[in-house]
Amino acid sequence: MNFELTEEQKMVRDAARSFAQNELKPGVIERDEQQKFPADQIKELGELGFMGMMTKEEYGGAGLDTISYVLVMEELSKIDASASVAVSVNNSLVCYGLEKYGTEEQKQKYLVPLASGQKLGAFCLSEPEAGSDATSQHTTAIDMGGYYLLNGTKNWITNGNNASIYLVIAQTYPEKGHRGINVLIVEKGMEGFTVGPKENKLGIRGSDTHSLQFTDVKVPKENRIGDDGFGFKFAMQTLDGGRIGIAAQALGIASGAYELALAYAKERKTFGHPIADHQAIQFKLADMHCKIESARLLCLRAAWLKDQGLPYGEAAAMAKLMASEAAMEVTVEAVQIHGGYGYVREYHVERLMRDAKITQIYEGTSEIQRLVIARNILK
Ligand code: CAA
Repeated sequence: MNFELTEEQKMVRDAARSFAQNELKPGVIERDEQQKFPADQIKELGELGFMGMMTKEEYGGAGLDTISYVLVMEELSKIDASASVAVSVNNSLVCYGLEKYGTEEQKQKYLVPLASGQKLGAFCLSEPEAGSDATSQHTTAIDMGGYYLLNGTKNWITNGNNASIYLVIAQTYPEKGHRGINVLIVEKGMEGFTVGPKENKLGIRGSDTHSLQFTDVKVPKENRIGDDGFGFKFAMQTLDGGRIGIAAQALGIASGAYELALAYAKERKTFGHPIADHQAIQFKLADMHCKIESARLLCLRAAWLKDQGLPYGEAAAMAKLMASEAAMEVTVEAVQIHGGYGYVREYHVERLMRDAKITQIYEGTSEIQRLVIARNILK
């Protein structure tokens, strides 16, 4: 077993680290306060090849492996999880699905601009009454012959306003249950498609999360991805990969908070000593470090399995479950180590703590990950 990264993987990780320090860190507190989407930074990330990292170069991507994707997600998320979730959704939920299941025409028209960072994508599965229970889609895509007539509402859509290409899951044949669901490519500007107001969130406040409304939107037949009725399996398969991205995001949030807490513990003195000399703090640091390293191994293992072409759904669920739980626990302790300073904005850890929470919720809650894992154990 080899735990060594390749030279290319190290180079990609270092590029992401320096981008995060130089381009994301300045202004991250203000963007969080003002709920400002990091549009310029996402554009630059596109120019660097980070918006289509695993997409083949012939389709505008960087042609890198999933391990590199994990490394990049960790580095970006240490500093700005609002930016990194835009990267994750575009890479794993939009580009991946289009590359794997799209037609050549769909790839040329949609994947190339998405993977090269000229356009941003969104993945639209959740609805007011369909979150964990993803099969109970109320959005309908009625087959009208030459086009689908799309009606319904999607909720909590990441990149909701800044995206221009949306993969929308909708029910075509309600009597067929999950086998009657389709996935359609919808473009911003199609008549009847409107973006609702931005959600005012606890964390990842720079990410633009919106509801979307579809009223009699005519979506051309050629915009359906895959066979008729393939939409639910499409969503499940893309989410398997998406969960690796969110696991790596959680890992980054945890390691970012840990690095800040470690530096602070060495600097801050109480009772005549740096607080790192006190065993109460040492034990916290030891626990945080172990949780982060365990999460890292699970993330890399899931990524490695995907790169080898082996089944990775369960491994991705395990990585997401453990990394997001670690993110929550580690960030809470990082605030505690900082004491009163941890509770104010300038020290970054309170933001990381708020950002950590969403990793236990989106792309499948911790409870859904446990369900996926348990079903795999018991099958
Ligand atoms: N890969 C391929 N197929 C899969 C699959 C997978 N990982 N998981 C399930 N399927 C297939 C099953 O084989 C089954 O097909 P057949 O009947 O033909 O065999 C079909 O899908 C239905 O599967 P289940 O019976 O297991 O379905 P279920 O209703 O019990 O639900 C679930 C399964 C795992 C709970 C699923 O609903 C789920 O993952 N829910 C969570 C949804 C989620 O993650 N939402 C996140 C929203 S997106 C987001 O957050 C993005 C963002 O903006 C950041």
